[in-house]
Amino acid sequence: MKAITLYFSATYTTKCVVEAIAKNLSNEVTAYDITNDSSTDEVAIPSDELLIVGVPVYAGRVPAMAVERLRRFRGNNTPAVVVAVYGNRHYDDAVLELHDIMTECGFRTVAAGAFIAQHSIFPKVGASRPDAEDFADIKAFAERVSELLKGDFGDIQIPGNRPYKVPGGIPIWPTASRKCSGCGACARLCPTGAISLESPKGVDKAKCIKCGRCIVVCPTKARRFYGIKYSLAAARFNSAFAARRVNETWFAKTR
Ligand SMILES: Cc1cc2nc3c(=O)[nH]c(=O)nc-3n(C[C@H](O)[C@H](O)[C@H](O)COP(=O)(O)O)c2cc1C
Ligand code: SF4
Ligand code: SF4
Repeated sequence: MKAITLYFSATYTTKCVVEAIAKNLSNEVTAYDITNDSSTDEVAIPSDELLIVGVPVYAGRVPAMAVERLRRFRGNNTPAVVVAVYGNRHYDDAVLELHDIMTECGFRTVAAGAFIAQHSIFPKVGASRPDAEDFADIKAFAERVSELLKGDFGDIQIPGNRPYKVPGGIPIWPTASRKCSGCGACARLCPTGAISLESPKGVDKAKCIKCGRCIVVCPTKARRFYGIKYSLAAARFNSAFAARRVNETWFAKTR
């Protein structure tokens, strides 16, 4: 079965999880990376293909920017694997929300997963994940999806609440130190256009979604979150969410 991967992935961990699932399910994969793609052209995915869609969890939700970009993909009762990747705190309502969005777009969720990766704001939380244990879980998940797709499947129960959690804001923004060489990589790759090519050390606070991409793409490691508010939040997160969480998966009922 041909697989279509579709993901929003600012610091590349969601991309990595989605690609690992796809690799275990199909030899023929077409990828749509919507992190930096604001196209509004509709993409129709037929019922004999499989969509594997992934988003990171932002404040317990699907990132608002990803919601807009996902809605141009249209299924025709097309099976979908829906995946939220989160930084070892919790996924809250994000998997349910993603399932709801894709259902509205014409997809049928065959399986869902909440997989853990390094936290993109507080990298000591979930550090170095996904790791070998996570990839073993991903392989087992894909094998079960493959079995389910051989027959007919029905509804799926996914945890979460409707209405979804109301996200809270975090008053931190990344900026660059004197190590900045002015290369412009952060400005070119920022999904929201919050960094100007002319003065890339700064950030447009109104546009920045704190996704962390400018930090991971900076070749001189000049860019990061600075300040006392960030340090205090990091200390709290590092201690509150140090314990390793396990990946969770859900499957549609067989008919
Ligand atoms: C703005 C923002 C909010 C986040 N909120 C959560 C959260 O609610 N729960 C959690 O466990 N991780 C949270 N994270 C961490 C990301 O979900 C996690 O690092 C994910 O792997 C990032 O995916 P990416 O590498 O594809 O960007 C948040 C990260 C960002 C940038
Ligand atoms: S400036 Fe903000 S939105 Fe842009 S890449 Fe950096 S963290 Fe993401
Ligand atoms: S990627 Fe780093 S070095 Fe390049 S312009 Fe941005 S902050 Fe400066």
